[in-house]
Order: sequence, then C-alpha cells, then structure tokens
Amino acid sequence: MSSPLRKPFIAGNWKMHLTLAESLALAKEVAAGCAEGGPDVALCVPFTAVAAVAEALKGRPILVGGQDLHWEPQGAFTGEVAGRQLADAGCRVAIIGHSERRRCFGETDETVNKKIKAALGADLIPIVCVGETLDEREQQKTYRVLETQIRGAFMNFAPDELARVIIAYEPVWAIGTGKTAAPAQAQDAHTFIRKYVARSLQEKLAAGMRILYGGSVKADNVDALMAEPDLDGALVGGESLKAANFLRIIRFKAAAPGIGQAR
Ligand code: PGA
Repeated sequence: MSSPLRKPFIAGNWKMHLTLAESLALAKEVAAGCAEGGPDVALCVPFTAVAAVAEALKGRPILVGGQDLHWEPQGAFTGEVAGRQLADAGCRVAIIGHSERRRCFGETDETVNKKIKAALGADLIPIVCVGETLDEREQQKTYRVLETQIRGAFMNFAPDELARVIIAYEPVWAIGTGKTAAPAQAQDAHTFIRKYVARSLQEKLAAGMRILYGGSVKADNVDALMAEPDLDGALVGGESLKAANFLRIIRFKAAAPGIGQAR
C-alpha cells in the first residue's frame, strides 16, 4: 500500500486502438463505473479522440491524456502534436518515452527530457516511462538501465520543477506479453527508482513522487501489485480496452482483508 503522501493513480493507455465512436463508448462506460473518492484515473486515448472524449468526460473524475507530444510548442513538424494543442483539446496528462516509442520511433533519453519540459510548460502531467528489456535484466543491468533513463529524463531540472511528474516503471518484457513482474520484483525496481531520485535530486521529491507499474496489469494481479509499498498505481494497456476489467483494476484492493489494511 502506497504512502499517504502519494494518491494512487491508474492510467489506461489505449495505444493505436479504437475509432472515435468506440472511444466515446468506452470512455462513457468507464465514467459510469468510476466513483468519486477512488484513485486518480486517466485515459490516454488516441489523438483523434482526445477532444471528443474530453468533452464527454467534462465534470467526471477522469483525466484525459495523450500518448506522446512533440517538444516544440509549434512549428514545421509534419505529423507531430504539441503540448499546447493537447492541452487545448482537453488533455491534462501525457505519456512520455513509452518503450514502444523508444523501440519503434527512436526516442531517446534526450527527447524524453525535452518532452518533459514541453509537457510541464503546457501544464500537462508527464507520465515518464522507464524499464529494462529481458536481455538487460538477464545481464543484471536493470538498475544501470533505470539509472541512465532517469538521469537522462531529469537532466537540468530542479527538484521543484519535477513535483508533478509521474514515473511508470514498465519492464519491456512484461508489456503486452501476459508476463507480469512478480510484485516483489516490481517493488524492488520501484524502491531503486525512488532511492535514485532521492540521491540524485531530493529526498522530498522522491517521497512524494508517484511511481506506477506497467506491464500486463490485470484484474487478477492488480491487488497483489498494489499491496507493495512503493507501487503507487498502474499504467494499463490491453486491459484498459475492456471497461469491466479496467474498472476492477481501478477498484484494486491494496491488501486482502485480514492480512493488512483493506481499502
Ligand atoms: P499492457 O501494456 O498492459 O498491455 O502490457 C502496458 C503499457 O504498454 O503501458
């Protein structure tokens, strides 16, 4: 169970799925089952659906997010979308540096760094993704990879500029594979990340920073993951496309009754 300093955050990442009509239907189904007083919830929808979903969710306790943004506020960058355009369309959140963007579109720690700056400048909450590949884990390089990615992402920021930033630890080998990190494995990576942020930036920033886990989060593993003290939420891909399953994830129980404190 995460610290009271950090409100749990559950974000759905719809990736390149759903038409406009399908997006609206899913957003409304999620909203209908989403009560006040739960965790913070965000839906990171395709760019084509941002404005309509944001309009449909007005007044509901759900944030709308983009899945990426460009680092410049405007300009001749065919095919790109700027933070201010996302904010203008109703976004409050932006995913940055997802492993699919790093792998398929050549994103680097340097572009991640520039995108965090752009997102904060547009008043968006950045969800910054980090995580090792299977190869890197097997070669005992997990900590080194996480440290390099976080150092690069947060380069030249002062601690107080990063207060709204959320990190998502997403081991690449667990994304879309059905292989979830064991809760203790995820906790170990989250502790490492929090300690590294404390050591390299500031203790207070690290204590308040929300670190989400992502990679095959499902209704039947979310409770065990969220029972770990340094897991502050989840970034959910495939299961966020099914309203009932995503709603069950939002209603996670941080510990089984009788074992610890039930939520
Ligand atoms: P998954 O995706 O839940 O389908 O594994 C997670 C993500 O890519 O953010």
